[in-house]
Amino acid sequence: MDKIVIYGGKKLKGEVIISGSKNSALPIMFAALLTDEPVTIANVPSLADIETTIAFLNFIGKKTIKKGSVVKAYSSDKYRHVAPYDLVRKMRASVLIMGPLLARLKRVDVSLPGGCTIGARPIDMHLDAFKKLGSEILVKGGYVKTSVKNRLKGAVIDFKFPSVGATENTLLSAVLAEGITTIVNAACEPEIEDLANVLNKMGAKIVGAGTKKIIIEGVDRLHGFTHELIPDRIEAATYMIAAAITKGGITLLRVIPEHLKVVSDKLRNSGMHIKETKNTIFAKWVRSLKPQDVETEVYPGFPTDVQAQWMALMSVVKGKSTIKENIFENRFMHVAELQRFGANISMDGKIVNINGVEKFSGAPVMVSDLRAGAALVLAGLAAEGKSIVSRIYHLDRGYDMLEKKFKNLGANIKRIHK
Ligand code: UD1
Repeated sequence: MDKIVIYGGKKLKGEVIISGSKNSALPIMFAALLTDEPVTIANVPSLADIETTIAFLNFIGKKTIKKGSVVKAYSSDKYRHVAPYDLVRKMRASVLIMGPLLARLKRVDVSLPGGCTIGARPIDMHLDAFKKLGSEILVKGGYVKTSVKNRLKGAVIDFKFPSVGATENTLLSAVLAEGITTIVNAACEPEIEDLANVLNKMGAKIVGAGTKKIIIEGVDRLHGFTHELIPDRIEAATYMIAAAITKGGITLLRVIPEHLKVVSDKLRNSGMHIKETKNTIFAKWVRSLKPQDVETEVYPGFPTDVQAQWMALMSVVKGKSTIKENIFENRFMHVAELQRFGANISMDGKIVNINGVEKFSGAPVMVSDLRAGAALVLAGLAAEGKSIVSRIYHLDRGYDMLEKKFKNLGANIKRIHK
């Protein structure tokens, strides 16, 4: 298994190009199943999750290829309606296959995704939405079997929580339903808006994406599309925090600063110099940072996907701070690993209390999930001496050219194959 070796303590400086959003890419690639016409998606990052999705689409019967940062999908003769365990277990977002296949084939059997290290992550809201749209659901032999007799029928879907995935799955099915679907308490994440923009390019009639109420007027047919993905705001936030934790200065290119407002504000309040243009952000360390409390919330609040990276930063900011995780119930796997670098952190249910230390010292650590991995790399970059980060396959799921990008910024970082 590959490992990353870091000799920390370098102030990172220079420019980094932010890749296309992973969390936009996945639902938009699944949207290709809604049409038989050609599809072109640009600005697609090179990640394990993208490869998994391409393999999945090809297995289902949609010919899909990736060349450089462009994904193309073509027509297919016949789709399969069964998504087996081997494909679903690799990536939770695989459940997004359900919406398009249900809409087109009127049935889909998906192996139950199960939990993951960051929590139980059930799909009850996805299934409730499909039920409201008129489908029947049967759980048998480890599969969720969803079917509808005729066509899906528009309905009012009121989510108990604005789930990103459930909102996406509802969009991906209701676009071809008969009549009007209204999603109440919809997720407002930029990735939802990106997906809705794509669906509208395909001929769907969606209004309100990006707000809590989305209205979808079903259509009979959808067309091909060409689309460039929005930048990855989580990758961008990780590089901003890299500038802060290494006391450097990094310019992020190809970003949408508005998507990062809450992270920029927190960094500014902490003492970082942050300057934005239309599509760049310059983050520079100018003075000792002050501790800042954060609480994860749905967009536009502080993203849960940046919580681990923020914890790494606050652990080396003198003074006390707290982090409250409101989105996932078990997303503090990185605490024990950050403690190996010397972090002074204690956990109390949903809250961690941090007492910032002067500096980290390098350590061997193990990645438990994607964003925890980013936090450990950031800690290694800030630490004095050598760190070895293992189980980096989690990082390869979500960070495009991680070592190359950090190396370009002056980090002493390399991947070893062992
Ligand atoms: C997406 C993102 C992930 C991010 C998360 C929250 C993708 C591929 N992944 O994940 O990076 O951390 O949004 O911003 O876009 N829940 C239920 N029942 C459901 C669905 C969700 O209880 O049917 C719960 C989950 O267990 C979790 C919370 O709702 O506690 C948020 O989940 P959700 O917004 O659905 O996240 P994902 O779409 O899985």
